[in-house]
This record gives sequence, C-alpha cells and structure tokens, in this order.
Amino acid sequence: MTDQLRPDGSLRHLLTLEHLPRAHIERLLERAEGFVRPLGARPPLSNALAGITVANLFTEPSTRTRVSFELAAKRLGAAVVNLEVQLSSRAKGESMLDTVYTLQSLHVDVMVIRDAEQGVPELVAANVAPHVSVLSAGEAHVSHPTQGLLDALTVRQHKGRFAGLAVAIVGDIRHSRVARSAYHAFRVLGVADLRIVAPPALMPEPAEFAGCARHTTLKSGLKDADVVMMLRIQRERMGQADLPDADRYFAKYGLTPERLALARPDAIVMHPQPMNRGIEIASDVADGPQSVIRDQVRNGVAVRMAVLAEVIGSRTGGA
Ligand code: NCD
Repeated sequence: MTDQLRPDGSLRHLLTLEHLPRAHIERLLERAEGFVRPLGARPPLSNALAGITVANLFTEPSTRTRVSFELAAKRLGAAVVNLEVQLSSRAKGESMLDTVYTLQSLHVDVMVIRDAEQGVPELVAANVAPHVSVLSAGEAHVSHPTQGLLDALTVRQHKGRFAGLAVAIVGDIRHSRVARSAYHAFRVLGVADLRIVAPPALMPEPAEFAGCARHTTLKSGLKDADVVMMLRIQRERMGQADLPDADRYFAKYGLTPERLALARPDAIVMHPQPMNRGIEIASDVADGPQSVIRDQVRNGVAVRMAVLAEVIGSRTGGA
C-alpha cells in the first residue's frame, strides 16, 4: 500500500481511511467545519490554492462528488479540469497512467480519481511525481474516503460526539465503498455500537467489518439506533440474477416511518445518494424531519475543501 503520508507525517494522498491515524481524521473534520456555512450565506472563498491545478478523472458516473470536488477547488482559488475518462479505452490501467503523465506535464498538482476497478487510485499514487497528490473519489466497492469524512462530520454536527452512539449502516453493505469508509471513520472515532444490517446475500465476507454486530432484520438492527445510514443497492456491481426484487426488498428492508420509530426518537437518517425512493427508503423518511441527507451534501464541499487545503498546504514550500 502506497503511503498516504509524507515522511514528515503530513497528508499527501487520500486513498482510504483505513489505517489513517485518528489525529488526521479529526484535523480534517475540524478544518472542514470551518468551511461550513448555512444555506443562503456566501460560501467561504480563499486563494489558498492559487496557482494550483486540480484534475477530476472520473470513469464512473457521479453528481455530488464530482461537482463538490470542483466547487471545493474553485472556492480555494485553484484551476480545475474535468476529464470524462472512457473505461472502454483503458487497458488495465496502462492508458490511465498515460493520461496521468500527460496531466502531470500540464502542471496538474492534484488528481481526483473515481474508478470502478480496484487499485487504480493507488496505482496512480505510486507513479506520480513527488509534488502530485492523488485523492480517491470512490474506488470500486473498496473505499470512498471523502464520503466517510463527510458522514462523520454530519454525525458530529448533529450528535456532538461519537462515543456512546449506536450507528446502523443498512442495505447493500457487500458492494458498498460508502459503508467501508464509514466503518473505518466511525471505528477510529470511537463509535462502540456499530451495526451492519442487510439481507444475507448483501452481507460482506465474515473477515470484513470486524467488531460490527450483524443483523438481517431492521427490527433488531434499528433498535435504539442514534444514526441510521441507508444505502442503495449497487446494481452495477452485481449480475442481473443476483439483483433483489425491488418490491420485495422494500417490504423487508425499506426504511418507512414505522420502522424508523424502532430507532431512538432523535435518530438521524443519512443516505449518500443517489437514492432509490421506494426501494431502500420511503419518501416520507427521506424528506422527513429526521433526515440529514441534504446536510451531507453541503458537508461534502467543506470536507473536500479541507482535504485539498491539507494536501497542498502541507506540501514543501506549500501554498
Ligand atoms: C456513492 C458512490 O458513488 O459510492 N455516491 C456518492 O458518492 N455520494 C453511493 C452510491 O453510488 O450508492
């Protein structure tokens, strides 16, 4: 695994939250909080990244992540280029590296990468010049570190703490990079009661999610939860034959107001989006008073500003 930290301990790449020291996560959350503004207020602007160029290389669809990385970079004064890299034109990462070397020659300083293939962000990080940083914007089913950070920030804003919380992550855990990054963030931040709730076919392998209680029903999984994080079925990561029937899934695993009542009365409901209303979540819940889903989106820009500021600001002779 490529080291995400420089020899002086500062953050250079962000590829995964796994093994990222707690102090780094807390520092990023603190920094991100400073970039959060209420809706209607002007977002913070600075020149901290003036002269820096950020490239977004996405080979999988994205709305929130791509737009928020772009806004985050621009609000810090960076230049941004967006590349729609065609998966089909890429032979096992080789032409990805050629694209990356081209961008490097064009003075790109930060490569933001989303890819359906495991290992691509790491491959790029292992091959770029020492001044270049690589940020994962979602790697296969493995990792989505900025999502994990924005989820943690959202919980911190609403609950004020991590210790003592019961957090239930519900849905297609098996194929979810969001679940994996949330798991790493919540574990290191001290959530003791961390549960995964899924039908048996969508549970991860036994070796994964160590320390989490596994529930196959919402009835037991949501009981007295403080945080309920719902996930979409990752259709793109499974064969047609393995896809659960949407109506049957909603009947057993859909989050309705009645089921949410199993959790604590002040529980918050999260979802990384895109949502499939009527499959994993009812509209009454998604738009209801306990939903913090739109806060998650707002926090996404703040977290990505914090990460960009951190990797560039701590560079030798930094910004
Ligand atoms: C997620 C992703 O791409 O992993 N979306 C996001 O970044 N907010 C979740 C998903 O696609 O289900």
